[in-house]
Amino acid sequence: MDTTIKDATNDDLKAIAACHIAAFPNSFTSKLGINFVSNMMRWYLSGKNKVIFWINEDGKCIGYCGGYVMDGSDAYGATSGMTQFGFNSAVIALMLRPWLLFHPELLSKYKFIWTNILRKLKLKKSTKTGIIAPPHQLNPEKKLQAGLVVIGVMPSLHKKGIGSLLIKEFENRTYAMGARFFSLSVRQENARAIQSYERNGWKITVEEGKVSYIMTKTID
Ligand SMILES: CC(C)(COP(=O)(O)OP(=O)(O)OC[C@H]1O[C@@H](n2cnc3c(N)ncnc32)[C@H](O)[C@@H]1OP(=O)(O)O)[C@@H](O)C(=O)NCCC(=O)NCCS
Repeated sequence: MDTTIKDATNDDLKAIAACHIAAFPNSFTSKLGINFVSNMMRWYLSGKNKVIFWINEDGKCIGYCGGYVMDGSDAYGATSGMTQFGFNSAVIALMLRPWLLFHPELLSKYKFIWTNILRKLKLKKSTKTGIIAPPHQLNPEKKLQAGLVVIGVMPSLHKKGIGSLLIKEFENRTYAMGARFFSLSVRQENARAIQSYERNGWKITVEEGKVSYIMTKTID
């Protein structure tokens, strides 16, 4: 298997989105369809502090990873940033699939969605959440922090070391950009992902709400 890692360009986002949908088949974003997911992923190409890379096998994406260095250049955190990029295609996708308005993930994020509608309509200003991601107490020395936002491997290729390859690549790339503290959020039920991060030296640091953990790693 050729596991050459490539920087993503605009032209690659559809292939990456297809891999994302395969890796997260039940998520609300996946249900909104490939156009929405690829538009949302344009966020990763929107600044020098962001990374997105993938593994191309015969024109198909078999794994990808994206994130950002929290250097203060973003008006919003990653989720809001991506929501803003995918906003118009989300509206179209929802008009075509109105039943998704009752998707549990959407219902649980009602406040977040409403905030982003107001932001899109320019009725609400940024709160600069992208400067240093909470919780600040996890990174008391305020080392430059990188957030691993998304990672996925084609389900048929799990447990072959591709996830680890992508995690290490994320660390190397963001380390080269100055990051020394790394964080991510993972659902507590996602044992496979947690195992993969732990195998690569990440530690569960704190609970985030009732459903997720924040995992971190420091490299000096
Ligand atoms: C999380 C995810 C990316 C992990 O991908 P992965 O490729 O299966 O993960 P890993 O690289 O850690 O796999 C390691 C396994 O491959 C095995 N392996 C085989 N060849 C290997 C090699 N050359 N190098 C390293 N490990 C290898 C290891 O022994 C290990 O097996 P074990 O778990 O039985 O010990 C993947 O499960 C996924 O896409 N999940 C759905 C999306 C998701 O949940 N993303 C995370 C959201 S926070």
